[in-house]
Amino acid sequence: MSEKIDPALPKVELHLHFEGAAPPAFIRGLAKEKNLDISKIFTEDGGYAYRDFWHFLEVYEAATSTLQTPEDFHRLCLAVLEDRARDGVVYAETFLSPDFCGGGDVSAWREYLHAIEEAAAIGQRDFGITLKGIVTAIRHFGPEKSRPAAICAVETKGDFLTGFGIAGDEKMHHPKDFTWAFDCAREAGLRLTAHAGEWGGAKSVRDALDYLKPERIGHGVQAIDDLALVDRLAEDRVVLEVCPGSNVFLGVYPSFPAHPVDKLREREVIVTLSTDDPPFFRTTLVQEYEALAKAFSWTEADFRAINADAARAAFCDAATKDRIL
Ligand code: HPA
Ligand code: ZN
Repeated sequence: MSEKIDPALPKVELHLHFEGAAPPAFIRGLAKEKNLDISKIFTEDGGYAYRDFWHFLEVYEAATSTLQTPEDFHRLCLAVLEDRARDGVVYAETFLSPDFCGGGDVSAWREYLHAIEEAAAIGQRDFGITLKGIVTAIRHFGPEKSRPAAICAVETKGDFLTGFGIAGDEKMHHPKDFTWAFDCAREAGLRLTAHAGEWGGAKSVRDALDYLKPERIGHGVQAIDDLALVDRLAEDRVVLEVCPGSNVFLGVYPSFPAHPVDKLREREVIVTLSTDDPPFFRTTLVQEYEALAKAFSWTEADFRAINADAARAAFCDAATKDRIL
């Protein structure tokens, strides 16, 4: 029997796509208000419908097309924070894309960001959750679009906006095509993370480390196929933002017991736990903890240690870390 994990255990979630956290009912409501027909992206039971990761990216963009104004993003932020509160999350970081918020234009982006920040302040007051933003380039939108995204991040870096990263289709383009954006963000003092090793294998993790030099890797789990790389991650204290339920739902691994997160921990890689795009993968952070406790006999002490590591790896100042630890 696995130990029962208290659902209220305080949690730190570092890997959460903002639009990907949108409850389907919220997106359906927006579509109705705006007279948009996106019925084909929903299943009969009201969830998101897609065949595989690449179709997921298309459905993600269709859902995002309903988010058109700063006010829409403000409302989304409150909905996302309400869900996080239900999971016991006390601190979260979320990926934000200027491509979806003004198309990379800095002054439009400022308005969207302002609306999201205002909602984050309400979330702090009402739910006691601290939220930070990470501007994220979208790999399959191409290197050209990553430059304005980085400029948006640099121009709005501050207490709320603390990081820069890259997500999207890892099989498109090479990390070296994004060095300009990452160098620009690094020089401005933004903290860096890159999606790699979700679909692109261990080599993709190596390339991300070599060319983009992030301190955290989104997913990174396929590093397990190259033990020298696993040792490098452990020695260099690169933090993995692991999203086991996402990987299982999308078929990267067949089940929780087959997921490499336990082996990575055994080899002293720093792992953190997140949900990625929770309603898309029909998961919550509480469900992730339950499944991991069952698969690997992890105890509440394991989850507390993982959350302490996540707090240390958070893209926020020391005072905030002290408060959330
Ligand atoms: N992986 C890569 N890119 C993404 C994801 C994801 O899970 N969600 C949104 N963009
Ligand atoms: Zn992700």
